[in-house]
Amino acid sequence: MIAPSFEDFEEHRPAATRSAANVLLLLILVTFTFATASAQQQDTIPTFDQLDSIEARVQGCVTCHGQRGQGTDNGYFPRIAGKPAGYLYNQLVAFRNGTRHYSPMNYLVAYLPENYLREIAEYFAKEQPPFAAQAITPAEPSVIARGQQLVRNGDADKVIPACITCHGERLTGMEPGIPGLVGLRPTYIIAQLTRWQVGDRHAIEPDCMKRIANRLSNEDVVAVAAWLSRQEAPQDLSPESSNLIRMPFACGSQPRT
Ligand code: HEC
Ligand code: HEC
Repeated sequence: MIAPSFEDFEEHRPAATRSAANVLLLLILVTFTFATASAQQQDTIPTFDQLDSIEARVQGCVTCHGQRGQGTDNGYFPRIAGKPAGYLYNQLVAFRNGTRHYSPMNYLVAYLPENYLREIAEYFAKEQPPFAAQAITPAEPSVIARGQQLVRNGDADKVIPACITCHGERLTGMEPGIPGLVGLRPTYIIAQLTRWQVGDRHAIEPDCMKRIANRLSNEDVVAVAAWLSRQEAPQDLSPESSNLIRMPFACGSQPRT
């Protein structure tokens, strides 16, 4: 088996983001080396009843995403626990196909078969660990208020729908393809919205998040991240059931049947 070179994934990146991305890549490679090293250490301790169990297999993921997918202290490693299985599966496929870029993730899933990705997605979707400590960056009250307005009511003048129409009243997401937005760090939220704007992250067409991200100004992106990262975990962490009627427009990741 030939290991994919990270350059393969870089090819699809827009030129404007390339040099910043190279710096990021360096940092990531350092982290990745560390992550694989400690994962290997864990492998030498057979604490699992069955070495071929799903718990044993996801050990390669927990250094960055936490033992139960709750995220880690690193501000950029996202919480994946409790997000709808369909959403998690779509992301793993996107990393594998290169429509979403983060080299360690692209590399890890490059050769994993579909049924295995589905199994991993279902495993983390069932987990509901408590939230990691909030990471709050300072923000003016007017910025936080703008964030709340966008998330709860949208902005009719800019044709931006309220985020809760798709991400759920409690912001815990919607089955099967829409992730929760609570429990995410501001740096991660800002990075994802920016990636959609520059064409570096793609979801299944019609890519509704691309339309929405393109209508947000830089200030709007900072505002939603500031407000979202200040929200407490709701009592009920489970995603809402599918509600196509409430969605302002179609998303390819939210099938119509
Ligand atoms: C080196 C650290 C690292 C390792 C190891 C790692 N991940 Fe990730 N993962 C990340 C980062 C960082 C992101 C966010 C990337 C981005 O889009 O910028 C991510 C994103 C994800 C996402 C999408 C999250 C979302 O909310 O959209 C999923 C799902 C995921 N990882 C699952 C896994 C699984 C399963 C494994 C093990 C096979 C794994 N990861 C191993 C760092 C890692
Ligand atoms: C029309 C429905 C819809 C609306 C409205 C919507 N979203 Fe989304 N959002 C989605 C879907 C679908 C995804 C998952 C896309 C994919 O599969 O990658 C998503 C994903 C995201 C993600 C990535 C989360 C992660 O874990 O990586 C962020 C951040 C996000 N949305 C923020 C927002 C914000 C902020 C708003 C309001 C300004 C908003 N969304 C409004 C449908 C919507």
